[in-house]
Amino acid sequence: MSEFAIKMVEDAGVNVEELLKLLITNAASEMSTYFHYMLLRTNLIGIEGESVKEITEAARIEDRNHYEALVTRIYELGGTIPDNLCEFYNMASCPPANLPEQPNDTLEIIRTLRDAERCAMAGYQKICKMTFDKDFRTYDLALAILHEETEHESWFSEFLCGKPSGHFVRIGEPSPFVSKFLK
Ligand SMILES: [Fe+2]
Ligand SMILES: [Fe+2]
Repeated sequence: MSEFAIKMVEDAGVNVEELLKLLITNAASEMSTYFHYMLLRTNLIGIEGESVKEITEAARIEDRNHYEALVTRIYELGGTIPDNLCEFYNMASCPPANLPEQPNDTLEIIRTLRDAERCAMAGYQKICKMTFDKDFRTYDLALAILHEETEHESWFSEFLCGKPSGHFVRIGEPSPFVSKFLK
C-alpha cells in the first residue's frame, strides 16, 4: 500500500473506496470463475465438448491471471481480500458459473460460459469508466482485462451463433494483454 499512490488517485477525482469495492468483487468473480470453469471443462466431453475444451481452458487460466493482477492493484490502493474463502466467494460481482442440470449438455455449458464472460465484460467496462483519464494504472489494468474478457465472450458466442469467426488461436503464453501486470 502506498499513501501517496492512493492520494494521487483521490486527487484525480476517483472515490477510492468505491473503486476498491469494484476491484475486490471483480477479483472474487475471477476466483469463482476459475473454480467453476474447471468443473465445466471436465464435463466438456465427446466430439462437441472436446472442440470447445481448449478455449475453455484458456479462458480459465486467463481468469486466474485476472484475479492475480487485480490483487496487486487492490493492495496498492490500501484494500485487502478477506481471510475467509467462503466470505470472498460470496462477494463475487457475477453469479456462479454452475454446471447445468444436465452436466454434459455442451450447448448449455457454452451458454453458461458466455454469460459469465458477459458479466465480466460489464464489470471491467464499469471500472474503465470510473478510472478513465484519472487513475491511469487501474484503467490500463481494467482495459487489458476487458480485452481478454471480450475475446473470451466472442469465443463462446461464436460457437452458438453459427456465423464466421475472425479470432486467432492463442499461441504461446496466455493473457496477451494482462501478462505485463504479472511480471
Ligand atoms: Fe476474467
Ligand atoms: Fe473471462
